[in-house]
Amino acid sequence: MRYNEVMTYRVGTSFFKRTIRDVPLDTQTVLMRADYNVPLGPDGQISDDLRIRASLPTIRYLLERGCKVVIISHLGRPVGRDSSLSLEPVAARLAKLLRRDVRFVNDCIGDRVYQAVKRAPKASVLVLENLRFYAQEEADDPQFARQITEATKARYFVQDGFGVVHRAHASTHAITLYIPSVAGFLLEKEYMTITTAMQAPKRPLVAVLGGAKVSDKIGVIERFVSIADTIIMGGAMANTLLAYKGLSMGASKVESDQNTLLDRVYAAARKKVGDRVDDFIVLPTDVAVATSLDPHMERRIVDVQELHPADSALDIGDASIEQMVSVINTAQTVIWNGTLGYAEMPTFAHGSARLALELAEHPRIMSIIGGGDTADFVLKWDGHHGESFSHVSTGGGASLELMAGAKLPGIESLLDAPR
Ligand code: ADP
Ligand code: 3PG
Ligand code: MG
Repeated sequence: MRYNEVMTYRVGTSFFKRTIRDVPLDTQTVLMRADYNVPLGPDGQISDDLRIRASLPTIRYLLERGCKVVIISHLGRPVGRDSSLSLEPVAARLAKLLRRDVRFVNDCIGDRVYQAVKRAPKASVLVLENLRFYAQEEADDPQFARQITEATKARYFVQDGFGVVHRAHASTHAITLYIPSVAGFLLEKEYMTITTAMQAPKRPLVAVLGGAKVSDKIGVIERFVSIADTIIMGGAMANTLLAYKGLSMGASKVESDQNTLLDRVYAAARKKVGDRVDDFIVLPTDVAVATSLDPHMERRIVDVQELHPADSALDIGDASIEQMVSVINTAQTVIWNGTLGYAEMPTFAHGSARLALELAEHPRIMSIIGGGDTADFVLKWDGHHGESFSHVSTGGGASLELMAGAKLPGIESLLDAPR
């Protein structure tokens, strides 16, 4: 996806794509793409089920209309079959949330799927095994997409996996070549909420970018240089920028092959704000480090100039937290994607927790939070369903790209809304 190509939000009072409301799907077999790429805890249990709960309105709507609902998704980034990334526990959690039987099929193509769908009664739910057990999924292989539609004999395809629509994969793109494809309610809601908020955001607009999927997300920084009034960096994203600036980041998570892009980002930033670049792209001045991920590790703060080779920067430091807070206090809109540190461990969740607190304490700030791990963190922090924030998105890269004005292949390929 190129970020400098598009910068238009197609905002209106209704969604520009056809949805499940617009097609006669009563009693049909419907293939539904969800994004059940849920965060997993150390023992493999589902640590947050936001993405599963968010899919319920669409599933319930389809069940009320007597559909056989066949759900496909990916989980993680497996290479071949990997039982630790099976969707079976997700199917079990879905059954609990729906309070009804959900049949799990341990493949997503072939005769086993065909037989299971054929035998399933009307108004029932099936979850198929992780699409990414096949390399053809990420390769956007039309043959593979065809095999899915053949095995399920689905009449319609419903895209409701908002978190994955920035990928052009077999289950988000190629599949739409074979059957009529429409949006589900989650996709519609996410699109409308995010694009409406981004159309004329209240300023100052501060973007906070962190997390670990650096090469995935670093491209949007270029777009945020023009959109945002300030960009605050944390997490492994900040490590990568500090390393780019020539600092030794020790054993920290860093992606060192991003220099060409970062040259462009800084050139664009200089063009926009002149020599105020370091107040515009705010990097941590200190970090919390550890030499291992031992849960008993203490939070040791060092200046970013002073990391030892064995040190890993796992959170922004206390001075950087204060600096971030002072920027956030001036903001009217905050977009936050990616935790500011290794927030699974409370010792390295200080930056993320303080940001969550600032947003919760200032409800006048429009806050849009995205990312599987980031949403997991803020929902646990919030203790409810994220009411402390304006919008907690189920999308990570997808929400960022949408905010940055990119066209998303998983949305573009759906049928247009009826005029
Ligand atoms: P999201 O899921 O919200 O889109 P990412 O997947 O990009 O965000 O990043 C979240 C992950 O990044 C978390 O698992 C977190 O532990 C990790 N992370 C954040 N900061 C660091 C860091 N400094 N070093 C290592 N991992 C980090
Ligand atoms: C996400 O968690 O952002 C989506 O499920 C997409 O996952 P991916 O980054 O592995 O494609
Ligand atoms: Mg993540």
